[in-house]
Amino acid sequence: MLKIGILGFGTVGKGVYDRFHRTRETIERQLGESFAIEAILVKDRQKDRASLEEGFVTTDWDEFKNHHSYDIVFEAIGGIEPAYSYTKHFLTQGIPVISANKKLIASRGEDLEACAQAGGTFYGYEAAVAGAIPIINALRATLSTTSIDRVRGILNGTTNYMLTEMIQKERSFADVLLEAQQLGYAESDPTDDIESYDAWYKLIILSRLCFGKWGDTEQITRYGVSEIENWHVEVANELGCQVKLIGDAKLEDGEVRGIVSPAFVAGDELLASINGVVNAVVLYGEDIDQLSFAGPGAGGAATANSMVEDFILHSRYDGDRVVAEEQHEAKEESSYSIVFV
Ligand code: NDP
Ligand code: HSE
Repeated sequence: MLKIGILGFGTVGKGVYDRFHRTRETIERQLGESFAIEAILVKDRQKDRASLEEGFVTTDWDEFKNHHSYDIVFEAIGGIEPAYSYTKHFLTQGIPVISANKKLIASRGEDLEACAQAGGTFYGYEAAVAGAIPIINALRATLSTTSIDRVRGILNGTTNYMLTEMIQKERSFADVLLEAQQLGYAESDPTDDIESYDAWYKLIILSRLCFGKWGDTEQITRYGVSEIENWHVEVANELGCQVKLIGDAKLEDGEVRGIVSPAFVAGDELLASINGVVNAVVLYGEDIDQLSFAGPGAGGAATANSMVEDFILHSRYDGDRVVAEEQHEAKEESSYSIVFV
């Protein structure tokens, strides 16, 4: 029986809990064993959690870490601290962590990946980028030999939802933002969405996996949707374009350079047709030309789906997985042990 710890019980933590309860049989079949939620760590002791059927709920970190044991931990607190210390605590003990925390991974991912490697354990963060789209594990596994020279996409569900509602239905910024918050799409501080920090974190993570290195984050510029003015939308309409918040990163002379910014997107491009709380990622490379992924980009169910898929993946982790950086090195220094003729 696998014992699970959940850090945080907001939109995402509750999404994972609900998904466990809704599809336990399928998950256990894939895992090949049963699981139980051991404990849940939250912040606010006043909130009513009486209806929870499983897991000891606590606001006390010492209680959570010392009085319970875990085979795997899900991190859905958000932010850098205390999420960083908590994640490190488990990874260094060899306990796998599955996270949705793009801010943490973009800021401390290099260190946390090293901790996971030293602890011989799995650090999964499929949920941190583009909601339900399985882009992280595609880049880590099924695209591991693919040369990618550019990644571009719509990486924030809240602002794509807002732009869609504001431009197509002429609703107000404040009204649509409130709705995105109520639907659980927005970050706890929605400035992260509006000023593009969230999409910036995601582009940093994607760049690391596409290009095999944690780039210099100062080489990725950032503009928020607050830069958009009415005339941008009018001009876009005249040109047959859409205004979208686009993240775009390339490898140039061995350096990662990128930008997150509102942009005109030609009407016949895939990204122009991405509406609502949907994200899209397009990878560019010599052999793949353009490889596109699209799907739900935020919300409890979509995010929990990716975390549960990481849960299944962790059970197949053999402790010996080659990380993207090593794969990129291997591509460059290839020595031929198998030759196809
Ligand atoms: P919420 O604000 O809804 O939930 C945060 C949870 O963490 C709450 O249960 C809160 O406790 C708990 N928490 C906060 N600080 C602490 C602390 N110091 N100690 C213990 N518990 C704490 O956030 P979300 O669920 O929306 O987001 C969580 C993470 O998932 C973030 O990293 C976010 O970026 C990421 N994410 C969110 C998505 C979404 O659609 N919402 C999608 C993809 C990723 P309490 O309940 O007591 O307030
Ligand atoms: N606030 C984020 C978004 C959540 O709207 O895209 C999903 O990462």
